[in-house]
Amino acid sequence: MSVNLTINGQPITVPKNTTILQAAKLANIDIPTLCEHSDLCKRSVCRICVVECDGQDKLIAACANNVWEGANVVTHNARVIETRRTILELLLANHPQDCLSCYKNKNCELQTLAETFGVRSAPFAPTADSRPPSVEGAALVRDMDKCVKCGRCIEACQNVQGIGAINTFGRGKEYGICSPYEQPLEEGVCVFCGRCAEVCPVAAICEHDESLKIIKALDNKTRFLKASEKYEKREKAMLGELGKKLPIITGCSKGVYRFVRQFYPDLTEHLALENFEFIDDDIYVAPCVALKYGHSNVITTRELERLGKLAGTNLAVEEEHSRQVKQSDISQRVTVRGFAQAREILEQVRKGECKAQLIDILICSDPNCPWSIVKDK
Ligand code: SF4
Ligand code: SF4
Ligand code: FES
Repeated sequence: MSVNLTINGQPITVPKNTTILQAAKLANIDIPTLCEHSDLCKRSVCRICVVECDGQDKLIAACANNVWEGANVVTHNARVIETRRTILELLLANHPQDCLSCYKNKNCELQTLAETFGVRSAPFAPTADSRPPSVEGAALVRDMDKCVKCGRCIEACQNVQGIGAINTFGRGKEYGICSPYEQPLEEGVCVFCGRCAEVCPVAAICEHDESLKIIKALDNKTRFLKASEKYEKREKAMLGELGKKLPIITGCSKGVYRFVRQFYPDLTEHLALENFEFIDDDIYVAPCVALKYGHSNVITTRELERLGKLAGTNLAVEEEHSRQVKQSDISQRVTVRGFAQAREILEQVRKGECKAQLIDILICSDPNCPWSIVKDK
């Protein structure tokens, strides 16, 4: 069934249950957003997307409301723009003004909005108390002074990853996003997958950038190796373990082992040897934050790019060798991507219904992840 409406005077017909935001997109009209994210369930908390409908006094959130027959939506008039700008100014009142030195400088959704709306002053006084940033598991940095309370990280952690390491806490001035009892993430159930950092629109949760710390690596002939160089050692360990309780469960990072131990403690005897020691003077380059967890000499490709810019050149990463486990060595192998799939197969193991000899759990769903043992055909 379809619905007819007008957006900024332009007639448009869209399917029923389309949000005003989606309808505007179909009409090539860009409504600004902050809390909304295409991969996540909506929370509709920021109100940046407000629009005027049918000339009513009350502005409504375009991401939270579906279109209706005969609606007359105005996405950009002076009143709507002023309201959005005031919301931004209120957010910025409690936001550190350190854009130049911020990890997300030039890549921050709040900064982009402030620029779009021409925010040049800070008319509102700060209301929140300041808290120092914290480094978590060597992989993430949390700086809650920068949090805009959009809730994207909670959605990613709870509903996409099914982990639930962070949630809202407090009320009013104290309201914020945190791990239970504000404890370090490592003391909770966090598996350091980095999904929260991927979706955070600002630098409230981001990868722990150590590119400056390892800058001396540029001078002392340190090699940059793909993290998957470690693969051969993993493979050998795996084959040596075929005599143990099957299926052997392994994963792309220490976070996967944390996941199994925390959510499936009865299956820990299936875990392969945890062979993630990145020793010697080499620096390992990984595609994602997950592999940084627990290691001081693993950097992400983004950090490598930054180092390269400092060095005025593209830094070379040594090529990986072919490292597929031979079909004859482990006959029943399965790769699962993401924790939802992991839970499904681990439930089967629990019930004794899993016929695989080896289960390789990858934190992300990237089919090209070089850290996968069992390559997709
Ligand atoms: S790293 Fe993953 S598990 Fe930890 S808080 Fe972020 S989304 Fe949740
Ligand atoms: S930490 Fe980032 S993603 Fe989470 S609520 Fe704050 S701003 Fe949003
Ligand atoms: S984008 Fe609609 S309320 Fe945040």
